[in-house]
Amino acid sequence: MKYLKTITLAVTLTSQVYAQNQTLDVDKELAYCFTQAKKTLAEKQPYSKLPRRIAKGDSNWNYVGIDDWTSGFWPGTLWYAYENSTDKSFKDAAEKFTEALTPVLDAKEHDHDLGFLFYTSAGNGYRLTKNPVFKQPILRASDSLALLFNPKVGTILSWPRMVKQMGWPHNTIMDNMINLEMLFWAAKNGGGKRLYEIAEKHAETTMKNHFRPDWTSYHVAVYDDKTGRFIKGVTHQGYADNTMWARGQAWAIYGFTMSTRETGRKDFLETAQKTADVYIKNLPADQVPYWDFNDPKIPLAPKDASAAAIVASGLLELSTLTKDKKKAAFYRTEAEKMLISLASNHYKSGDKNHAFLMHSTGHHPNGTEIDVSINYADYYYIEALTRLKKLRQGQH
Ligand code: GLY
Repeated sequence: MKYLKTITLAVTLTSQVYAQNQTLDVDKELAYCFTQAKKTLAEKQPYSKLPRRIAKGDSNWNYVGIDDWTSGFWPGTLWYAYENSTDKSFKDAAEKFTEALTPVLDAKEHDHDLGFLFYTSAGNGYRLTKNPVFKQPILRASDSLALLFNPKVGTILSWPRMVKQMGWPHNTIMDNMINLEMLFWAAKNGGGKRLYEIAEKHAETTMKNHFRPDWTSYHVAVYDDKTGRFIKGVTHQGYADNTMWARGQAWAIYGFTMSTRETGRKDFLETAQKTADVYIKNLPADQVPYWDFNDPKIPLAPKDASAAAIVASGLLELSTLTKDKKKAAFYRTEAEKMLISLASNHYKSGDKNHAFLMHSTGHHPNGTEIDVSINYADYYYIEALTRLKKLRQGQH
């Protein structure tokens, strides 16, 4: 019975979304984001508390401290809201939440998440305002991140705590690709050439070791920290070591697309395309993946809207870097289809809670954040809408 209900929902959603050959009304969706963001601001928490998730059935956010890996996403979301609305209340709040993160840099050698924390927040703040107050934290975060680079391996150590805990002498997770964007930026903005070299080498080593022959990715690559030898590929947040964890693949698509933009390397472009192709080919009909493509419980397994939002944003950029016009149009169309699906009533929170989107999965093996609203789904959703708006205006 439950199975039948799920199938019916999927069929209804598919026909709702695609039968009408819809075009996404980007301004309407952005206006929706502004309304929801104002509801979050009205929760009136101190700037050192950042909204992270909303459990099913709740309307208000669950808040975390400044050193949580997701704490940059809320200020980043506010920066995108300001960019698209020019509403000063978004700018004021974005500034305060961004500045509140700076003390994180006083801790010695934080993990790889520094890029998530500072490039989404201060990175967007500097991009939009050129206020030097945002530049220093990005440069400091980049220098700190660079301390985790192991030249023998050729990647940044993602999780120092897992060296002992898991017996992984040097571990690198696919998510770490996203943090390279901050290093590429810092290298061009006073941080020095070495930061570029670290970022490029990290992407190159990841390209060599982090993929199976079909271009699905491992979540974690474990290396010998002394010799640099690749030991094994395993999972941490996916279903099993050899399955395609949706968000890990999303980070790969987004990360190699961004690395192509920054380096111009053809092999990075091909990697982005191959990782995107295997992801797209295996999507369910409504374009939003199950949390892991190989969970045997599919179609009863939970979805991950955050992966869909990350991929939609990544594919919009990939469409601008792909020379073959037909292939570029394919990536753009797929991205728009994903956004149309996310903008449907099934995925949008609307009156149910204060987030933009529902139905994301954070850490399924841990039993945490399953089928929830989550701040990074919202961040990449508004980023993707911003990118689509610019593309339609002929800019990127
Ligand atoms: N970077 C952790 C995650 O994607 O859940």
